[in-house]
Amino acid sequence: MITEDQIKNALRGVKYPGFSRDVVSFGLVKELSVRDHAVSVSLQLTSGAPEIAAQIKSDCERALKVLPGLTHLHVEVKLPAGPQAAAAHSPWQNQNRVPGLKKVIAVASGKGGVGKSTTSVNLACALQLLGARVGLLDCDIYGPSIPLMMGIRSKPTVSADESKMVPPVNHGVKLMSMGFLVEGDNPVIWRGPMIMKTIQQFITAVEWGDLDYLLVDLPPGTGDAQLSLCQTVPLDGGVIVTTPQEASLGVVRKGIAMFEKVNVPILGIVENMSYFTAPNGDRVEIFGHGGGRQECERQGITFLGEVPLFTEIRIAGDAGVPIVVSAPQSPAAQAFMAVARAVQAEVA
Ligand SMILES: Nc1ncnc2c1ncn2[C@@H]1O[C@H](COP(=O)(O)OP(=O)(O)O)[C@@H](O)[C@H]1O
Ligand SMILES: [Mg+2]
Repeated sequence: MITEDQIKNALRGVKYPGFSRDVVSFGLVKELSVRDHAVSVSLQLTSGAPEIAAQIKSDCERALKVLPGLTHLHVEVKLPAGPQAAAAHSPWQNQNRVPGLKKVIAVASGKGGVGKSTTSVNLACALQLLGARVGLLDCDIYGPSIPLMMGIRSKPTVSADESKMVPPVNHGVKLMSMGFLVEGDNPVIWRGPMIMKTIQQFITAVEWGDLDYLLVDLPPGTGDAQLSLCQTVPLDGGVIVTTPQEASLGVVRKGIAMFEKVNVPILGIVENMSYFTAPNGDRVEIFGHGGGRQECERQGITFLGEVPLFTEIRIAGDAGVPIVVSAPQSPAAQAFMAVARAVQAEVA
């Protein structure tokens, strides 16, 4: 007896052409039936391209043919009808959007320590100061540093009807973090699927309310783990944080490739630790300068701005009051405000 689970599992091996994501997780499988050993599957596409439909059909047939004992197989791939066909061209349109979350933006980096989390918290607070409703989702499973940087020590509570988690708030920003789920310094040793499930709940089972922006701090890197996270969360855009020296190492290109694989528009690059202002006022470019901007020009993407290396940025982070809040007039805070405005312009 062939089970529905077996069919679904087989279909999970079928990628949407040009994407690293499979047809099941895109929500394309609409009907699925099995009688004795005869299997019938129906998929509904949101894109109007017949060659895509043909490709998916043959890929599904190949994946299902190997089911043990299969006698009959019927795979149907439907194209959207009417005006929708011309309008729709992304499989993401099938993705369940979370009502209330207007723009979900991921913040990524090539490696740790480049200031991704620092940028996320300052960007979140800066957008809030600009009048937006903002949430921050810390997905860094290995080093969730954001609760500390946001000065949040309380944990989420449960809503009155016990159906949702209520995120703690500070500096006007709602926060959910992997850090809330671990006690003390215990590292999270969960496996991939558990992490994905938890992150999914952070999106759907958290009372975010109406937000203009939900910023998602991804774990450092651009590998499979980060890619799966990008697939788990319905993203509207991605920001890449880099240092000048990293920018020249092709790290940015990997970040771009990651977002492209999941069809997430790249909003641009932030160059952090861009320069240092010495006590005598001299501008010192410790890691070189302009790598981020040059890389953006080469790649044809937006340069969102540069943030100086500034002791106060670290001190503010350690104190739980991001610099855009603690010293809004400082050059460092102004740099983050400029990045926030550039992000706003880019998503608009
Ligand atoms: N522009 C900056 N100036 C000074 N210190 C910074 C700056 N950006 C980040 N830092 C510090 O560098 C360390 C690493 O930053 P963090 O944001 O945690 O990086 P990531 O999230 O990429 O691992 C932190 O101690 C942070 O305070
Ligand atoms: Mg971090």
